[in-house]
Amino acid sequence: GLPNQVTIWEVGPRDGLQNEKSIVPVEVKLEFLDRLAGAGLTTLEATSFVHPKWVPQLADAEQLLAGLDRRDGVRYPVLVPNERGLDRALEAGVAHIAIFASATETFAQRNLNSTVDDQFAMFEPVVTRARAEGLEVRGYLSMCFGDPWEGVVPAEQVVKVGKRLLDLGCSQLSLGDTIGVATPGQVEALISGYREAGTEVGALAVHFHDTYGQALSNTLAALRCGVSTVDSSAGGLGGCPYAESATGNLATEDLVWMLDGLGIEHGVNLDALVETSVWMAGRLGRPSPSRVVNALAG
Ligand code: HMG
Ligand code: MG
Repeated sequence: GLPNQVTIWEVGPRDGLQNEKSIVPVEVKLEFLDRLAGAGLTTLEATSFVHPKWVPQLADAEQLLAGLDRRDGVRYPVLVPNERGLDRALEAGVAHIAIFASATETFAQRNLNSTVDDQFAMFEPVVTRARAEGLEVRGYLSMCFGDPWEGVVPAEQVVKVGKRLLDLGCSQLSLGDTIGVATPGQVEALISGYREAGTEVGALAVHFHDTYGQALSNTLAALRCGVSTVDSSAGGLGGCPYAESATGNLATEDLVWMLDGLGIEHGVNLDALVETSVWMAGRLGRPSPSRVVNALAG
């Protein structure tokens, strides 16, 4: 059956803004985070401590965290790929990090300049040190369904790599459809694959991009399998600069509309969120792709 409550993991400030061509000023990012918290979102993925040349859009991570007005009851996780990133994140006072792995060789190369095996050598000291410092660690796994260079990714391969992230000490594993090609049957099969391999469904989150318009259907399939943490980005911002043809994440407004209809609790004020996405669209100079934003703001 469906969960009574869903935790929305808002990735707009990170996954959304990392894919914008223009570099959003840090003051705008800070106002975005504040508005998202004001709309009731309690997990805001704030930025990444990656190489600034790889993702110039998030090169202001230090400034952002220094200016952040942290609210009680709100978590502000950040992406960290390696020990250099962890040093920077610790210096900035973060309490929650996410490492990000690839299920495929090509994307490990393109996104991390690594291999599927070597990425674990990079992550191992990050997770060990982060946990010793009392940080919570999420693990992302990219290309869980399809890869633009390798095609359909076998579920067994995805389960194997994802379990390594959990074994390393990640408290949660977010299954990424980086290029938005998955369909609901694949989602059910992958979650069953994890279950059969001994993973508790409560440790899984889902992260759908909406390239082929399947993100909401895939989310419903995951909820029916017992998943209760869903990644989304306000207004449907987002993508991944290292994966061809990836568009935005599932829009948080589209998710909230569906959860409301299903009577599932989420804690978000939809009007305040739509207002925030309309404001952000104005800052970016292009309309939100979210159907719900357009229906309600029209
Ligand atoms: P590399 O070039 O192999 O790094 O990149 P390196 O270890 O060889 O170091 C080279 C130089 O970079 C050194 O400086 C390091 O200090 C510096 P030098 O000694 O030459 O002066 N350096 C750093 N500087 C700042 N911060 C750091 C850092 N690390 C090294 N953290 C690296 C390897 C992992 C750094 C690079 O590939 C990288 O930054 N990748 C990040 C790519 C990225 O952010 N992608 C988007 C996020 S993933 C995603 O969006 C998918 C997701 O949404 C889920 C889904 O949709 O599937 C999560
Ligand atoms: Mg993503």
